[in-house]
Amino acid sequence: LIVPVILAGGQGTRLWPKSRSARPKQFISLIGETSLFQQTLERVSDGSRYAPPIVVTNSEYRFLVAEQAQESGIVLGAILLEPVARNTAAAITAAAQVAVGQDDDAILHVLPSDHLIPVDSEYLDATGRAVEAAQDGHLVTFGITPDRPETGYGYIAIGEALCNGAHKVAAFVEKPTPDKAEAMLAQGGFVWNSGMFMLGARTFLSECKTLAPEVYAAATGAASRAQHDLDFMRLDETAFSAAPNISVDYAIFERTAKAAVLPVSFSWSDLGAWDAVWKSQPRDTAGNAVSGPVSLSNTTNSLVTSDAAHVVVNGLDDVAVIATDDAVFVGRLSQAQNVGAIANGLKADP
Ligand code: GDD
Ligand code: MG
Repeated sequence: LIVPVILAGGQGTRLWPKSRSARPKQFISLIGETSLFQQTLERVSDGSRYAPPIVVTNSEYRFLVAEQAQESGIVLGAILLEPVARNTAAAITAAAQVAVGQDDDAILHVLPSDHLIPVDSEYLDATGRAVEAAQDGHLVTFGITPDRPETGYGYIAIGEALCNGAHKVAAFVEKPTPDKAEAMLAQGGFVWNSGMFMLGARTFLSECKTLAPEVYAAATGAASRAQHDLDFMRLDETAFSAAPNISVDYAIFERTAKAAVLPVSFSWSDLGAWDAVWKSQPRDTAGNAVSGPVSLSNTTNSLVTSDAAHVVVNGLDDVAVIATDDAVFVGRLSQAQNVGAIANGLKADP
């Protein structure tokens, strides 16, 4: 069985004010009835393919994780709690260490909890092929066909063919500059890193030990000294705090010779910022996506949502208006990437 490893420790600051540090985007119902975290759990709920998932999250979110899993009727394998946020390299390494303790041959399906993916036959077929490549010793990522020079993603140059539609990774460029992103799109032969991986836990740990020894020492040390507390496994604070704050993309995927990419064409969206939320929703003929008590006139290509107050927008194009109980955000959709920096700059989280 595949062991799902669900990363649910991010802050989601670009989706302020809906996403708050006390309740980040993966735990709110952004699209659909359930949260993105719950939708991620549902994607791996088939007990004939998947073992109970390992969730890695910040200690602050432990009750959100436990309650939402229970509400969805999903039994978790483990909830690993990070005492401090050290980014995805340390989170995945700690989970891999826990997984090999249970099964030395474990294949991990690492899943961010902020993606919107409808499960269809193509999705199931791709995960099946990724497992085979992972069993052959590759660290596999799913490659998405790019449609714009997005700078918030990793780019992969597709290399020589392996088996089953997978390819070697000829180059991995995490979060390129705008010029570089434009150039890769123009040149062709690149796909986006989806951020979802299929990894042999042992292979991953040995690559991590060589390529990111400080991450390895801190995260495996923290996992071996973890304390059990109710349903939770608390990673050892002293050990884990020593981990460098680096994502798995920079720490491992840009450096390893074992990376493979499986180009896929199932529907995928990283709900990172308000422009992505706008794109993933049904829009009217004027290009507007609305929810809640909202009235628009002469307004186009906009996202307007309100939880309570009646919001009226007149004569605007390309705006996001996000009204919650205690905060309102108004800004250009085309500048949605800046919102994280703005939210981080607000002294308290009002
Ligand atoms: N447990 C834990 N701890 N989870 C974390 C942490 C952490 O410290 N930091 C981030 N996460 C979780 C987030 O909640 C999210 O589900 C996932 O890890 C990925 O983190 P993001 O912060 O959303 O990464 P990104 O979107 O900037 O970049 C990654 O995803 C892109 C595609 O969505 C990279 O893998 C890119 O290469 C990729 O293109
Ligand atoms: Mg993301």
